[in-house]
Order: sequence, then structure tokens, then C-alpha cells
Amino acid sequence: RMASSTRRVPISPQRVDAPLTSSATFLVVSVNTSIPSAIQTVRSALASISDLSKNVAIRDLRAAFACTVGIGAGVWDTLMSGVPKPTELHPFRAVHGAKHTAPSTPGDLLFHIRSERRDLNFEFERQLLDALGDSVSVVDDTVGFRYFDVRDLLGFVDGTANPVGDDVSEAVLVASTPDSSGSGEVASAELGGSYVVVQKYVHDMRAWKSLPAETQEAIIGRTKWDNIELMDAEEGKQASHKTLATVQDADGNEYSILRDNMPFGAPGKGEFGTYFIGYSARLWVVEKMLTRMFIGEPEGMHDRLLDYSKAWTGCAFFVPSQRLLDGLGGD
Ligand code: HEM
Repeated sequence: RMASSTRRVPISPQRVDAPLTSSATFLVVSVNTSIPSAIQTVRSALASISDLSKNVAIRDLRAAFACTVGIGAGVWDTLMSGVPKPTELHPFRAVHGAKHTAPSTPGDLLFHIRSERRDLNFEFERQLLDALGDSVSVVDDTVGFRYFDVRDLLGFVDGTANPVGDDVSEAVLVASTPDSSGSGEVASAELGGSYVVVQKYVHDMRAWKSLPAETQEAIIGRTKWDNIELMDAEEGKQASHKTLATVQDADGNEYSILRDNMPFGAPGKGEFGTYFIGYSARLWVVEKMLTRMFIGEPEGMHDRLLDYSKAWTGCAFFVPSQRLLDGLGGD
């Protein structure tokens, strides 16, 4: 059963629902709060993102350029002075399974830059970092690319179960009515915003390639060639990735998230990765997916995908509405 409601979604979200493109840059930075002017510089840079985006997007309108900005729990109060911190926002919580760990790593701001053209993304990132100057330090800068028909480097089509159409805003944007997590009425500053979690995974390709395709398919929960969903394993048996990543609340409502994963890497360096990025109106949904994957369901039966994929980073952010972001330059 899908979570159904007629929640009214307010205006002016950032472009979290922008289409999956052939190129994306994931830029995570820390704010250098020891520099007195840093906060003001970051504020005006964030307020100018709309204009900066337009500068670059106009140079090829068919390239579907979009940039979304996420703000971490550690800088929210100083940066967003007066705007209450979103109810669920906290630093990414590491998940320690018996065998694998999802680490929590530093990062105050996330810029998810995407378009059909690597040069547009490059140019935008250059102008953005110019505007930010020494107010930030880059923590991670990963460039992802489209690999054939939206496959990850493990060879599987990635992103199929994403919500589409009207279901996108329900899944991704914080709306004004209470949700079934019981967290109550949400504060207005959150309206039209979205939680986002990123994790950088590196694959052990040699070990993965040594598995027969049928074993890989059982691990993912879909067929490799034609992307057909497999049946869930019986209760108590080893579940596939797609089963473990399916999350319900106590009433059996299912919650989807919006993933824009991208492959990244460099064969010459032996680096083969997946940059995971998941947008959700509810941070607990992504956290529950991670618990099911790393701890396992039942406990101890972790997601076998993790035996071939190591999480190197883990950060959580809130993507405020465009209006909140634009307003940051005001003081
Ligand atoms: C499904 C790959 C990590 C959440 C899938 C599918 C693939 C895949 C191939 C099946 C097709 C699809 O529906 O997209 C990967 C890889 C990962 C990764 C390569 C990293 C190494 C994660 C993480 C989460 C997640 C960390 C959540 C925290 C999901 C969800 C689905 C899914 C929600 C759809 C399940 C459904 O309703 O069918 N993933 N994934 N994935 N994944 Fe992942």
C-alpha cells in the first residue's frame, strides 16, 4: 500500500525533482567558521545560486542544468539565523552492522550539480567556488557520469523504483500536515524542503565479477539484462537489496525516496564507485533503509550488496525551499 494523502505542497521548492542527467557533480564543503566573514560570504553565495544557475543554464537550455543546495545540522543555526532547524535534521548517524559500517563523515553544505553537459557543471562549480572563496573548504568533489542505460558499475539499471509524476512531491517534499511518524505539525520553515542523504560507495569489482549473474540478481532483487523485479525472499531468509530498501511504517504504508545515484571512478586508478544520493520528505525513512541494509532484516542478514560495496562517506542535509535560500542575502 502506498502512502496516500492529499497533502498540499507549498510553492518554490528547489529543483530536487530535476531529471536524471548524463553528468553530475557532488560537492561537499565545510564552512570555515573560524574566519569572521565566512558566514556572511556563504549566505550571499547561497542567495546568489539562482542567478548563478541562470548564468550557466542559459548557455544551453537543452542541457537541463540544475543545482540543489543542502545545509547540514552543524551550520544550520548560524547560517539560517532565526529559521528553526528542520525537525528531523541532525548529523548523519553512523550505522554499525556486525560486518559493515556506514560511517558518518564531515560536511556542512552539499551542492548537487547536474546537467547533460560536463562543461556546464564544471563552469558552474568554478563560479560557485569563486563566490564562496576561502569561506569554505572542499571535503569531497565527485564527478558522476551516466553509464549506458542508467546502469551502475555493477551492471544493473539503477533508479527504476523511483517515484514519478505526482508521487514525487509526496515522497520528497515536506508538507504541512502531520505524517504518520507522529512528529506532529511541521514548522513552516520546512515547507517545500527535503532531506537528502549522500554516501560514496566504492565497489570490489573483481569479487563482484566472480559471481554468476544469477547470484548478482538475487543480491539486487532484479534481473540484470531486462531489469525485471524478482519475488521477495521468504520471511527469515536472505533478502535482496530492493526488499531491504523497501520501508513501511507501522500501518503498512510504504515510503519511497528519490534516488539520483551516479557511477564515478577511474579504471586507471582501480576506482569503481556509486555515489548514492537519496531525497526524502522524511529523514527516518532513509535511516530505516540503512538500518535494514547494514544491520539486516532479520538482524545479522545484512544486504549482500555491501559485501561488494564499501561506504566511504555519509552525510545528511536539508534542502530548504528556493525562497528561503534566496532570502539569505537580505541582511
Ligand atoms: C533499488 C543499486 C545503495 C535505496 C536499487 C536497485 C539497484 C540499486 C540496482 C534496483 C533498481 C531500482 O529500483 O533502482 C544500489 C547501489 C547502491 C545502492 C549500487 C550502493 C552501492 C542504496 C542505499 C539506499 C538505497 C544506500 C538507501 C539508503 C534503494 C531503494 C530502492 C533501491 C529505496 C528501490 C526499492 C524498491 O522499492 O524496489 N538500488 N543501491 N540504495 N535502492 Fe539501492
